[in-house]
Amino acid sequence: MLSLEKGMDNVHHVLETDDIINIALRMLACINREAVQHSIRTAYLSYKVASEHPMAKECKMENLVFLALFHTIGFFREDIHFDYIPHQSNMNFFAHDKVIKSKYVFACYYLDYMTPVKADALPIQNFLQPHNKDLREFLYQEEYKDIIYMCARISDYVMKNPDSALPENLNVIDPGYFAPEYVEAFKKLNKGNALTDAIKSESHISELSKYISTIRFNQEDNKSLERMLVQLLDFKSTSTMKHSINTSSYALSLGLRLNLDSKNLTTLYNSAFLHDIGKIATPQRILEFPGKLSPEDMGIMRHHVNHSKRILNGFVPEEVLETVYRHHEKLNGTGYPRHIKGKDLTLLQRILTVADITSALNDSRSYKCEFSKEKTISIIQKMTDKGELDPTITKYVLEDFDELLQEQNVLQSMLSVDFSKVITNYNDYILSDMGMMADSLLNNADADDIEEVEEIDELEEDGEPGDLGDLEEI
Ligand SMILES: [Fe+2]
Ligand SMILES: [Fe+2]
Repeated sequence: MLSLEKGMDNVHHVLETDDIINIALRMLACINREAVQHSIRTAYLSYKVASEHPMAKECKMENLVFLALFHTIGFFREDIHFDYIPHQSNMNFFAHDKVIKSKYVFACYYLDYMTPVKADALPIQNFLQPHNKDLREFLYQEEYKDIIYMCARISDYVMKNPDSALPENLNVIDPGYFAPEYVEAFKKLNKGNALTDAIKSESHISELSKYISTIRFNQEDNKSLERMLVQLLDFKSTSTMKHSINTSSYALSLGLRLNLDSKNLTTLYNSAFLHDIGKIATPQRILEFPGKLSPEDMGIMRHHVNHSKRILNGFVPEEVLETVYRHHEKLNGTGYPRHIKGKDLTLLQRILTVADITSALNDSRSYKCEFSKEKTISIIQKMTDKGELDPTITKYVLEDFDELLQEQNVLQSMLSVDFSKVITNYNDYILSDMGMMADSLLNNADADDIEEVEEIDELEEDGEPGDLGDLEEI
């Protein structure tokens, strides 16, 4: 068995902090564009206000901007406790109801456990509470909330009242909620409507982008933030998130066996890790469909390669972008989206295709259970015989399958993010309200799970070993 830990030492990370932030925003925009636009306006205003009136010395500008950009992250996730599905319009970020409050509680835990800002995210939990001068005396993080809340309110007001100016007295928007010094700073900056005009004309985006391009978290924090990109897929489909990690593992195992140098391993690994992030734009009903997709839905599913390319474009090296875009191409030209043939597919592209298919076969998905070793190997062999996959690569899957699986466990433990703390804390918050718990239990008591198992059984019975009909992914 190869040492994947050693293999990982030869892999370099190609994404800088600002690349990761930008990719994450593009991914989230695929779920709810309006919420991302609101967060970008809020981050811009927060950046301007904190530049005019400096924060306490414990506060960092990069953390303020990051928190402002992702303070709405709870709004992008489906929530079975409330039957909440992220939607495109008419979102009220300031409603004082349980559903909206829960979004900020989720954001607090998510940002605390999953991102470099850590405990600076704590006040987001009480995002909808008024400015509290006394609290700020011993909790410096409150300052982030004071700035972000006021700027979010202004962002919201400007978008909802496009033809009128902001009220002379800003406090009438939300009495008691704004910190006086930041109201003053905002007023000073907004003379002649400079700031509100900037967000109306969208000129704020380039100014904020310039600042974001200077943000640099340390190397460890950067790595954890990178993992967040794949973790975001979990908002749509847990199996797709796991598949991204498993594909990275197979790609690395195969790349090491093929003696790739550090540069090529780096391109291969990063391409594998990011290859399916475009699936965040694929409707959940298609990603999680428990059966064979219709031709129309298959077309939508296949479009994910274009989404991956669009999301990554400009933020990853060209070679990574092209390898990602071609991960469903096959040697004999029967792949998609461009039916490219073998001679035009690079070794790295061919490896990623094999890694992707091996993971698709060996993982459990919504439409199938995990295939046995025998069935996986027989399908890979069949695809190789048909000229779809490169035999110099698949030979390692066929010969070293058990080792590849063991290596996968190693990489899974290195790359998996412990999301359980976020969920545990969030569920504790939700279930602390007994009424809410009763509602949740009642709403979730249906027979969907049982039906799904039966449909998978039917699929298994219908399919001959090696029959590819039920694998929409490949
Ligand atoms: Fe894919
Ligand atoms: Fe994939």
